[in-house]
Order: sequence, then C-alpha cells, then structure tokens
Amino acid sequence: MEKSNFYQQSLVSIMDYSKEDYLRIMEVAAEFEKTPVQNILQGKVISTLFFEPSTRTRLSFESAVNKLGGRIIGFTDAGSSSVKKGESLKDTILTVANYSDLIVMRHPVEGSSRYSSEVSPVPIVNAGDGANQHPTQTLLDLYSILKTQGTLENLRITMVGDLKYGRTVHSLLMALSYFNPEFHFVSPESLKLPDEYKLFLKEKNIPFAEYQDICDPIKQTDILYATRIQRERFSDPMEYEKVKNSYVLKNKMLENTKPNMRVLHPLPRVNEIDTDVDTNSKAYYFQQALNGVYVRQAIISLILGLK
Ligand code: CP
Repeated sequence: MEKSNFYQQSLVSIMDYSKEDYLRIMEVAAEFEKTPVQNILQGKVISTLFFEPSTRTRLSFESAVNKLGGRIIGFTDAGSSSVKKGESLKDTILTVANYSDLIVMRHPVEGSSRYSSEVSPVPIVNAGDGANQHPTQTLLDLYSILKTQGTLENLRITMVGDLKYGRTVHSLLMALSYFNPEFHFVSPESLKLPDEYKLFLKEKNIPFAEYQDICDPIKQTDILYATRIQRERFSDPMEYEKVKNSYVLKNKMLENTKPNMRVLHPLPRVNEIDTDVDTNSKAYYFQQALNGVYVRQAIISLILGLK
C-alpha cells in the first residue's frame, strides 16, 4: 500500500496539515460515519496521556479506538503516574512509546506537544497544549461545519467568548483561513483575540471585525461558535469573576437568524448557552461531539497507514 502524507507523522498544530489533508480527513471520517465498527486496529495499542481534565477528547478517542478493534492504555490524572515522583516529560514519552503505536496527549504547557513529537519514536497527537492548539477538535469542527453547511467555502463565522485563551478558536481560524471565510469576533475587552492571530488573518487578507455585543453579527452568520471562558488559564480569579457570564446565548437570540445557521461549541459549556437552546434545531453541539469519534477514527487510521 502506498503511504500517505499522514503516515507515522505527529499531529501537533493544525498547520501541520494542508487544505488537501483536511479534505482527505473529512472524506475518511464520512466513511467511518457510515461504518464506524471495523477491525482495522487489531493488535495496535494507543496511549492516552491526559495531564489535564477531559471528557469528550479522551472518551471519543477511546471510543474511536475501541470501535476499530484496538486497545487503549494511559492515564487520566498525571498524579497517578510517575510524573508525581518527578519523572520528566521526555522520560514519560520515551517509556510510553515502548508500549504503544501512537500517543494522544493533553498537557497544560504550550509547546509540550511539539517537544514530545521531537523526542518520541511514535507519532504524537496533540489533544490540547495549554492555550495554544487543539487540532483534532478543529478537524471535528470542520467536519461539523461541512456537514451542516454543505461546504467549507465562503462562510461567515462568528466566534464568541474567550478568544484569548480558547485554543479551539486559534486552531479553527487558522484552518478556515484556507476557505475564504469572513470572521466576526465577539469577546470582552480583556479576552480579545491575541494580536498574533489578527496578524495571521491580515497577512492572508481575510476580513474580520471585533465586537463586544453578540447581537451585532448574529443575524448574518452561518456558524456561531461559542466558547467557554477558560477559568483555568486566569492567574487572577477576580479577573475571571468579572467576565465569567459575559455572553449567555438564549433561544430568543436565535430568532431571525439565517435558516442554515448552526450553533457550535467545543464543550464543556458552563453558562454560555442556556439549556433552552438545546432543543432548538439550530443547536448542533452534541452532534458535533459525536462527530469527534469519526474524525478521530480517520486521524488514527491515516497516521497508522490503515486507510
Ligand atoms: N472539546 C473538548 O476538548 O472537550 P474536553 O475538554 O471534554 O475534552
């Protein structure tokens, strides 16, 4: 079998992949959505090392591997591993690589995933590194946008909430830059999109505007991407208290929005979306979380050369 661009390559940043790579992953994910149970990972061991809490990312990776006949090892709390005794990240990775074919890792330190990929003899998949990147979330976000809009091209995307620390926002805007988007960013002043991402968009001539009121861009948007205020990234708890309930999306606010408009959220939510929105046909965040299984099946099987 001819080996693809993905074969045995780590996925650290969403920019590690090209537009064609994204579209290939979408295609393979759609195949897995049709046939999610296959025995192609028999004999393969995937490690999940979560140095930070997770529900969706870890469990959807584990579900993906189980449905494909592979085995999972790992930890959900670094405090139960020898990290607690002072073992370095490098030694942890070199050891776990002895036991597995691929390592999925979430870590609070930005750049930890890149560093791990440089020392690891097996591919590393970044499941979130601090406020930096969350590329597999982005790929499932792209898949969700493609499924709900029928295209990734020429969409108006409104991102709301914590645009400073929200790593899913950072990865997603970079990925969408290939598809001629128009961005609307809604955040409190203290949580605006960092300059490096605005510079990235300017260099690519991608239009964007910033708002503090969610009502301004919502009527014209195709995708409303809500995010949680990332309490764990604040050094001053009082600063979190000031902004924690800045935006709460309610059903009424979705009246007169475009018929194709969908509300996405990487989840978990705290207060950003009122539960009355959950039954609105424009709410898509739980289906979005399900899409994570198919997309992660695609990522693992492509990296291991099984697709
Ligand atoms: N979207 C996401 O990363 O969720 P978890 O933190 O539950 O994995």
